[in-house]
Amino acid sequence: MNGILYFSSTGNSLYMAQRLREQVGGEIRYIPKYDGDGSEFDELFLVTPIYSYGMPAHVYDLLPRLDKSKTLTVIQNYGGMACGADYLLYRYATKCGLSVKGVYKMKMPENFTLTFTVPKFYLNAALKKADKRIDDIIQKIKRGESAVPKERKTREEKYLKNKSNWHLIGRGFSVTDDCTQCGKCVSVCPSDNIEFTNGKIVFHDKCVACLGCYHRCPSKAIVYGKKRKKDRYVNPNVDESQIGKDI
Ligand SMILES: Cc1cc2nc3c(=O)[nH]c(=O)nc-3n(C[C@H](O)[C@H](O)[C@H](O)COP(=O)(O)O)c2cc1C
Ligand code: SF4
Ligand code: SF4
Repeated sequence: MNGILYFSSTGNSLYMAQRLREQVGGEIRYIPKYDGDGSEFDELFLVTPIYSYGMPAHVYDLLPRLDKSKTLTVIQNYGGMACGADYLLYRYATKCGLSVKGVYKMKMPENFTLTFTVPKFYLNAALKKADKRIDDIIQKIKRGESAVPKERKTREEKYLKNKSNWHLIGRGFSVTDDCTQCGKCVSVCPSDNIEFTNGKIVFHDKCVACLGCYHRCPSKAIVYGKKRKKDRYVNPNVDESQIGKDI
């Protein structure tokens, strides 16, 4: 059976993982809750967003512990600029001793929107093309086409620097009076960075910058810095309650 391991905060990667599973079969596992090494599966797939021209912290931490005897196929997605993230992941996974069959990447709606707004038509255009993009990738996977990324320049230094500063994002969040104390942000956070203390939401220092709390708060009560932006994003083609679940 295939194991489809995914990280997702706003549903783009979950959407792709579900589409992949429809066509290749297998089980879907949410990486932050997965403490295995993939050895229970025949073949491994990784579906992940690109973060800072690299990968989310949970993906970075997962790769070294995966079973080296399994083959791994990766599908990345990004909002605008990938800048060698496919080769960076390939090189890192290979250094971890993994046998990587291919790394595919495709564009999806941008969710790193703390300080700017992506025009609706731009988001919709990416969503409209998403079915074809993921299906083309799945067909290539099924045909066994080689998708090992060519050696190219990466932004590894920048990625590692940004990754080491992601915890600061949590310090920039605050909660407005619109908070209903529903507790959803506490449960969606992949790094246990949010808790209720004396009836108030508090952010600690373990943020991995996924922005899940920011986008998925039902009251849009989580704001960043001095911004009071109202736009939030969740992929409309997934059941939002399934983000972060094993399926
Ligand atoms: C911390 C962070 C860093 C990101 N860095 C990049 C990036 O370097 N390049 C890019 O094109 N998109 C970047 N994005 C956007 C995401 O890759 C993109 O929106 C992705 O589809 C989100 O997937 P998800 O909905 O499964 O969480 C970033 C998003 C976050 C939260
Ligand atoms: S998800 Fe939003 S409304 Fe719910 S507790 Fe968190 S900040 Fe408050
Ligand atoms: S605090 Fe928010 S942005 Fe940071 S890791 Fe938790 S859910 Fe993600």
